[in-house]
Amino acid sequence: MSSSHHLVTGATSGIGLELAGRLLADPTCRLVVGARRPEAAAVLRALAGPERLTILPLDLASLASTTTFAELVERHLAGDKLASFAANAGLQITGPCRLTADGYEETFQANFLGHAVLIERLLPHLAPGAPVILTASGTHDPAIRAARMFGFRGGLFVGADRVAKGDLDPAASVKQQGMDRYATSKLCVILHVYALARRATADGPHFIAFDPGLMPGTGLARERSGLERWAWSNVLPVVARALPGTSTAQASGAAYAELLTGRAFPGGTGLHIDFTLAEVPSSHDSRCEDWQDELLRFVERVALER
Ligand SMILES: NC(=O)c1ccc[n+]([C@@H]2O[C@H](COP(=O)([O-])OP(=O)(O)OC[C@H]3O[C@@H](n4cnc5c(N)ncnc54)[C@H](OP(=O)(O)O)[C@@H]3O)[C@@H](O)[C@H]2O)c1
Repeated sequence: MSSSHHLVTGATSGIGLELAGRLLADPTCRLVVGARRPEAAAVLRALAGPERLTILPLDLASLASTTTFAELVERHLAGDKLASFAANAGLQITGPCRLTADGYEETFQANFLGHAVLIERLLPHLAPGAPVILTASGTHDPAIRAARMFGFRGGLFVGADRVAKGDLDPAASVKQQGMDRYATSKLCVILHVYALARRATADGPHFIAFDPGLMPGTGLARERSGLERWAWSNVLPVVARALPGTSTAQASGAAYAELLTGRAFPGGTGLHIDFTLAEVPSSHDSRCEDWQDELLRFVERVALER
């Protein structure tokens, strides 16, 4: 019998909340959610009872929390396998560089490293061919016009050790450095997906980077200035409809669910797929196999140390 356990991070808000709602609309779905703020999980509890929805504490910016979460998921599964994993949580910091208690730059750890360590830990618990879908972003690619219009200039991979410290371009403004760190965390996500796909065995899970498009109105702008937050929630949802590459949390959440449940799954690994469910090219830099390997070695080292 195929597994009905799905795992989602970042399900308390934005696209993740839409995704959780779509998954739970199937009465056979059992959903495990990793939530940083227990108080925000109340919105999820309205979607299903504890027999189908399990909410476990997870702060991806803490390796201790991440590894404890992996142990709790393992215990919860009690020998069952995960049908899918949506590594979706993410944040954007446009203020000064913040280092976590583990010594990594917070955007890098929360958006990329925490999920990467979770994948290492949960690999034995993923069903063969299970989709493992990591939320990426067009901001990783300097060729994407819409991202450039918002001030992103693509990911800057300057070596795993420097990226992990947030040390990308010290000459840039504080805000630009924050945006570079976000774009770089997403470049890392895509480099990692390709590296995992190349390392995978035939009966392993399938790794996909999912670009949900620009979705104004989600909580992603929560650390921006008051005016920028207001525009993100009130102006951009209307204005951005005219821009290419724009979606909504509802539409992209629905596409995400189609991919995760295999209804729209093209059946491959190492893919970059956007919210229209088309396979689309990722940036030139994301194809660099040396960088992919360097990042995977970094992740394996961190995961082993825990
Ligand atoms: N919105 C866009 O235009 C856009 C475009 C491309 C990609 N994305 C990506 O889409 C994903 C979802 O973003 P969104 O737009 O839906 O934003 P959102 O509404 O802010 O949702 C982000 C989710 O991530 C969780 N999260 C943040 N930091 C975390 C941490 N340290 N540990 C655990 N959970 C954490 C948040 O939990 P809390 O509720 O506790 O804060 C929230 O559930 C992110 O990966 C983002 O980078 C968004």
